[in-house]
Amino acid sequence: MTVSTQPLPEDPRTNPTTDPHWWRQAAVYQIYPRSFSDANGDGLGDLPGVTSKVPYLSALGVDAVWPSPFYPSALADGGYDVDDYRNVDPRLGSLDDFDDMAAALHGAGIKLIVDIVPNHSSNRHAWFQEALAAPKGSPARSRYIFRDGTGPGGSLPPSDWQSVFGGSAWEQVPDGQWYLHLFAAEQPDFNWENPEVREEFLSTLRFWSDRGVDGFRIDVAHALAKDLTEPLASSSDLSPEGEGTDGGHPFWDRDEVHEIYAEWRKLFNEYDPPRTAVAEAWVHASRRGRYASPDGLGQAFNFDLLQADFDAGRFRQIIAANLEQAAATGASSTWVLSNHDVVRHATRYGLPPAPTGSAKGRDGKDWVLSGGTEPALDRGLGLRRARAATLLMLALPGSAYLYQGEELGLHEVAEIPDAERQDPTFYRSPGVDKGRDGCRVPLPWTPEGPSFGFGAGTAHLPQPEQFGPSSVSRQEQDPDSTLNFYRRALEFRGKQQGAEELDWIGSADTVLHFRRPGGWQSITNFGTEPVALPEGSVLHSSAALDGSLLPPDTTAWLA
Ligand code: GLC
Repeated sequence: MTVSTQPLPEDPRTNPTTDPHWWRQAAVYQIYPRSFSDANGDGLGDLPGVTSKVPYLSALGVDAVWPSPFYPSALADGGYDVDDYRNVDPRLGSLDDFDDMAAALHGAGIKLIVDIVPNHSSNRHAWFQEALAAPKGSPARSRYIFRDGTGPGGSLPPSDWQSVFGGSAWEQVPDGQWYLHLFAAEQPDFNWENPEVREEFLSTLRFWSDRGVDGFRIDVAHALAKDLTEPLASSSDLSPEGEGTDGGHPFWDRDEVHEIYAEWRKLFNEYDPPRTAVAEAWVHASRRGRYASPDGLGQAFNFDLLQADFDAGRFRQIIAANLEQAAATGASSTWVLSNHDVVRHATRYGLPPAPTGSAKGRDGKDWVLSGGTEPALDRGLGLRRARAATLLMLALPGSAYLYQGEELGLHEVAEIPDAERQDPTFYRSPGVDKGRDGCRVPLPWTPEGPSFGFGAGTAHLPQPEQFGPSSVSRQEQDPDSTLNFYRRALEFRGKQQGAEELDWIGSADTVLHFRRPGGWQSITNFGTEPVALPEGSVLHSSAALDGSLLPPDTTAWLA
């Protein structure tokens, strides 16, 4: 590992607490709260656990933290089944603990983004319980999407709509009606045509904004508006999610959804600085800009890199297209390589390519993992490429979203026994898709001890032996560790970041080389042979350099 001795320039960023544009090039760290740090030893991570790790987050050098849902939940979908939008799951703490966490983060100059799940509640939400107890056609049922069935005696679902997690998207209730759930049956979809639903979410956004949160991540932002005109349109002959370009799908990415976000934007702009929002919208790239509009949510995740193979041509095409799109909408670009829904990128890059013609899932999951990774996975190559891709990503203009554990170079945990799996995709597929538990295994903080320092109890998902050497305290002692590699990269990024501009240099098939304002350069070798490093002093690199040569699967930053 080449570590530069060059002094760092002054930090050009404006005061992060008041700058209304703080989000544009922020490094945002996603926390999966139940698997980050367990302060009370019950096996589930909690908010006091997050608070206790603020010094860690500060040393890592992130600008913002986005915890996945921490609300009361039966965990039918890892917390994305929300019982109460304005409270904290008692197993994770209390609202006071939330305030302590926010204060500790803000005290360290770190922003806080909370996850809002507006497409569906949990089936334990007071409104859904009320709907179940109320008769057909009642106002309580009209907050959700209830319909009579088809076929003899209404015994068949109202339409052919399928759940993202597998099976029909309709579930029958005892009086014979059916309700819509695009995800698990425990996640009934709200009816966004009902003004009460709209008011309720405005109150929730205000609740957290008043509590001092800086922004929101909007879960399945492209699903809220639905065409509910009777008879319900068939969806089986339409393009799958993400492929439509005309807004004609009965429930994905309909144009009316933007009326909702225009209303939210007005609320966000009542605050100083305005609250930010980022859409999780798995839509066709040509329609992403609508979510990122300054009159809408303001930013949208771009999952293109996350779905791409480690390939120079593909990366360049994606980067160029997204920068162009961001410039057209006024938003900044977003970049993501890992999150709580996909196979970790160190593992993706270490798997053999999927066979020609095989489709990647909606979350970029490779078919190989579903069948078990271990025999095929090259851990060393995967991590080497992951570090190279990360360093490239961190040099791009725009926001970088990082997922807990990637800074430790963690691999997907493939060896979770079926009996211990939690993800509904595993149960609804059934068992064909191993699900997303493998990237949600509790973090290792120490090389030994119960749950590798995650907490005093047994972790809620089993941790593999290789987590010990990957633990935080072990990596802190090793200057070449992935953790120290991330720390240094984020430190440099914070200081080097200038205008949201990028100039490509050269156009080799296997090398990506570009310059940012102020002379900061990033060069990545995707090929199989070493290439000459350009002129300049090396700031950082993802692997050891070979004199003046950049080895394969390596990125270097130069000034
Ligand atoms: C989003 C979340 C995912 C969740 C789903 C349903 O895609 O990222 O974890 O299962 O929405 O809420």
